Amino acid sequence: MFYLNQLDKPFAAEITGLDLGKPLNDEIFKAIYAAWMKHPVLVFRDQSFDVNDHQAFAERFGKLKPRLRKNGQQGATASDNPDVMYVSNIKENGVLIGTSPNGALNFHSDSSFDEIPSKAGLLYGMEIPTIGGDTLFVDMCQVYESLSQEMKDFIADKWVTNIHLPSLPLDPTQTQEERIRTARKAVHPMVISHPESGLPILYVNRHQTYKINGITKAESDPILERFFELVDSPKIRYSHKWRKGDLVVWDNRRTQHGRSDFDPNQRRLLRRFAVFCDASPKPYHTETLNSRPQLELA
Ligand code: OGA
Ligand code: MN
Repeated sequence: MFYLNQLDKPFAAEITGLDLGKPLNDEIFKAIYAAWMKHPVLVFRDQSFDVNDHQAFAERFGKLKPRLRKNGQQGATASDNPDVMYVSNIKENGVLIGTSPNGALNFHSDSSFDEIPSKAGLLYGMEIPTIGGDTLFVDMCQVYESLSQEMKDFIADKWVTNIHLPSLPLDPTQTQEERIRTARKAVHPMVISHPESGLPILYVNRHQTYKINGITKAESDPILERFFELVDSPKIRYSHKWRKGDLVVWDNRRTQHGRSDFDPNQRRLLRRFAVFCDASPKPYHTETLNSRPQLELA
């Protein structure tokens, strides 16, 4: 059917011997999905599929989530297909052809600033710098389990406000207050339950989590920083060194990802589809289920 090799972290695995450009029967897809539940970062090697094959495979995981940036915006993908997104530093006629062009990226879970974030990301390597630009993954179930009982108790009933402040050049005519007010935002539990496995997941990230609700931003910042430092620890990550033709599929509920720096003079081009979650992330501690609070910005 295919070969599966666990990578240097058990939550990541590599699949070889499979051509995703060919029709995939339900039995094989079921086996892939089961492998993905065990290894929430799956690397498919040596794919040479086009955008339609890529999209068709993404649709096996669920309904596609359109890219964030609309045509014409800085960093938008110039395509009539609203679902495809390019991650790239390449410019054509002086205009970026994709998003997240520069350097390192902080750990995040895609679209955690939306009420219904994405379930899966499917990123395909097309042009790869010789050094750096690795995509870094962390298992947030593992991070949750590593917390002290005291920390687990503290976060059990907490919610956070997440916000989208793009990593692109910011509009210089806006104040930071205006940017925050107009950005996309959502409130989510600090600990969510994986919709399929029921496992607890620590759901805060350095890139998008603005504050813990119910306490001041000044009180929240140092607490969040403790969690972010755990996620940043190089020991627990799987660093994906891209080869052209890799497709990486991550469970965006259970894992976070970031990126290491790379030489801005080297071209980097990846193509991505994202898949919607079925519903908003649910709290792991269900006693807080009926109290989804308001956004908090101060
Ligand atoms: C993404 C992303 C990281 C990378 O596509 O959502 O964060 O390595 N990409 O470019
Ligand atoms: Mn991302």
